[in-house]
Amino acid sequence: MNAARAHLEDVPWDDGRMTAGYVSHKAKANLQLPEDHEAARGVREIILAALDRNGLFRSAALPRHIFPPLINRYEAGMTYGDHVDNAIRQTRAGQRIRTDVSATVFLSRPEEYDGGELVIRDTFGSHSVKMAAGDMVLYPATSLHRVAPVTRGVRIAAFFWVQSLVKDDTDRSILFDLDRTVVELAQTAPDNPAILKLTACYHNLIRRWAEA
Ligand code: NI
Repeated sequence: MNAARAHLEDVPWDDGRMTAGYVSHKAKANLQLPEDHEAARGVREIILAALDRNGLFRSAALPRHIFPPLINRYEAGMTYGDHVDNAIRQTRAGQRIRTDVSATVFLSRPEEYDGGELVIRDTFGSHSVKMAAGDMVLYPATSLHRVAPVTRGVRIAAFFWVQSLVKDDTDRSILFDLDRTVVELAQTAPDNPAILKLTACYHNLIRRWAEA
């Protein structure tokens, strides 16, 4: 992630409200790197290449389309109140992407700023997320979330959305659990014939639920 950070020294930042929807406009007070800036392209390439190598990401998100990552910056006093991300986003190339899974890649080290937690609400309550530089959190795009006010330092992160092959959060979560179980079993009991049967279940569920 140092390579990604190196791109982001001395770049111009726009008002983040330029890309907010009508409702989220009021809640949003942050800065955003212009999408066509060379640094944004550099960071996007690093992230997309890393996603390509990441089997855990593929298993969890079952990506069909990935919205090219955007980069934002929160300085002291900046925040993004509770909101739900727009259901459909259009890329600069004109491709419409349904936002099934939201992702945040933390680019600042946690000790560089206070506050700035990503707070995600689901049916089990609120989850407060603040990760090491280079770490990524995926969460259902259906959830209400916010970025807590930054009270010291600067928080820089990349974020993007995935249109999944499987749009339903629960179905996708079952497939993820099943896939991780198969992987675990393949490591601990590689000769167990149940691996083949579970793998068949996995692919047959994908066949039922996926939009290819
Ligand atoms: Ni959001």
